[in-house]
Amino acid sequence: KSQSIQVTIDSQAGKPVINRNIYGHFAEHLGACIYGGFFVGDSSRIPNSAGVRNDIIDALKKLKVPVLRWPGGCFADTYHWKDGVGAKAKRPSIVNTWWGGVTEDNSFGTHDFLNMCEKIGAAPYLAGNVGSGTVQELTEWVQYVNFGGASPMSKMRKDNGRENPWNVQFWGVGNEAWGCGGNMTAEYYANEYRKYATFMSDWGNSSKLFRIASGANSGDFKWTEVLMRDIPHHMLEGVALHHYAVIDWNNKSSSTAFTEQQYMSSLKSALKMEELVTKHSAIMDKYDPAKKVALIVDEWGGWYNVEPGTNPGFLFQQNTIRDAMIAGVTLNIFNNHADRVRMANLAQTVNVLQAVILTNREKMLLTPTYHVMEMYNVHQDAALVPVTFRSPDYVLGNDTLAAVSISASTDTNGNTHISLVNIDPARSHEVRFSAGNIKHKAISGRILSSPKIQDFNSFEQPDKIRPVPFNGFTNTSDLVTIKLPPASVVVLKMN
Ligand code: AHR
Repeated sequence: KSQSIQVTIDSQAGKPVINRNIYGHFAEHLGACIYGGFFVGDSSRIPNSAGVRNDIIDALKKLKVPVLRWPGGCFADTYHWKDGVGAKAKRPSIVNTWWGGVTEDNSFGTHDFLNMCEKIGAAPYLAGNVGSGTVQELTEWVQYVNFGGASPMSKMRKDNGRENPWNVQFWGVGNEAWGCGGNMTAEYYANEYRKYATFMSDWGNSSKLFRIASGANSGDFKWTEVLMRDIPHHMLEGVALHHYAVIDWNNKSSSTAFTEQQYMSSLKSALKMEELVTKHSAIMDKYDPAKKVALIVDEWGGWYNVEPGTNPGFLFQQNTIRDAMIAGVTLNIFNNHADRVRMANLAQTVNVLQAVILTNREKMLLTPTYHVMEMYNVHQDAALVPVTFRSPDYVLGNDTLAAVSISASTDTNGNTHISLVNIDPARSHEVRFSAGNIKHKAISGRILSSPKIQDFNSFEQPDKIRPVPFNGFTNTSDLVTIKLPPASVVVLKMN
């Protein structure tokens, strides 16, 4: 039996803007994300621009990807950027020690990535090597990509074919410094950060560098505390946080053949993001009540066992309705915390973890997660509209989760968008809200759903799951009533 939820929409409340970068992505040198995914090389018969697949560029443009993080991940702290610039035939190789032990030829490097970002229309976010690099190496990278004047690094850039700097704003100072980035303590890393950040110059550019400290692993609140306490805030623009939706790190289970209990466990882990963001933000508030330093969730998403028969180091997994639910609820959490969360990067764009795109030779498909990110992109740079409600429960055995998740925003054209997720795979839920203070003439909507939570898009049936028009609402005078089907994501537009 469906339940009715009364939602209060507070369009008069203070309105943080939902930073478009909450809809960011992450592309690591990992499995078939870069090589064999984005990048097929310019001699490939797959249509490409400077070696990058045109179909991927087009799909990511449509998605309105605002920011893209590269080259890692764990890989970033092994990467030496100078090996990836200059004549491709002369570039040394690198063994990808974290991911599958494969030897890469460095044919995809700084120019390839930054030029690709320009084609997609995404701001680049470069993750610097702190773990096995030097201050000189990272500061020279900044100089190489950002300095317009005469210097050894800008000369090298020009000699390599790029006259004007790219002016990259977002820089990660290492990655997972508590783990693959060097196994450091928070106190030691905070000192390392201070040293690196000191020498990362703006090079006279009007857009200032946005430096992001390698952040906490999930619920490691002490890490955030130490960084906020020990790093002077004039040299800290963002603090990162990584959290994956995982059932059990020792038995992550199949991405497609899962039980409802496993579905619930995944959603429980994803919904933990609410508690994490709230608690890390509270620590940041203590040291930075004006909220100048951003919380950057630069790795998130569902993580399962790899597809049978694929390289365990390549993290290739399918993407089902469960992933659409994870994306929907997580993005609602980020929207609702837009006052502090100002960037997030889904792991990872192509063929790795909770990917938005999967490829198989010349074929490409868009996953359910892609469609959720596309439906939600209406929230980018829109003013958050706070919503309050009490969700009905989704109950399975002894476990209970909130069934419904909602966020809303009003864009600069005056359109209000409401994104709603019902994770309950068996029951619909009715949502009612008074639209009194949202002046509107019309409502329209789209829905993403499928009969089974295990359903996915395959290369044989790439469009099995895609958004379709949604008519499951009534709009009488000032009361809007929505019937949310089981396991569905709905985005409504009121204008
Ligand atoms: O996204 C895969 C890996 O997960 C990243 O390389 C690392 O930062 C994290 O542990």
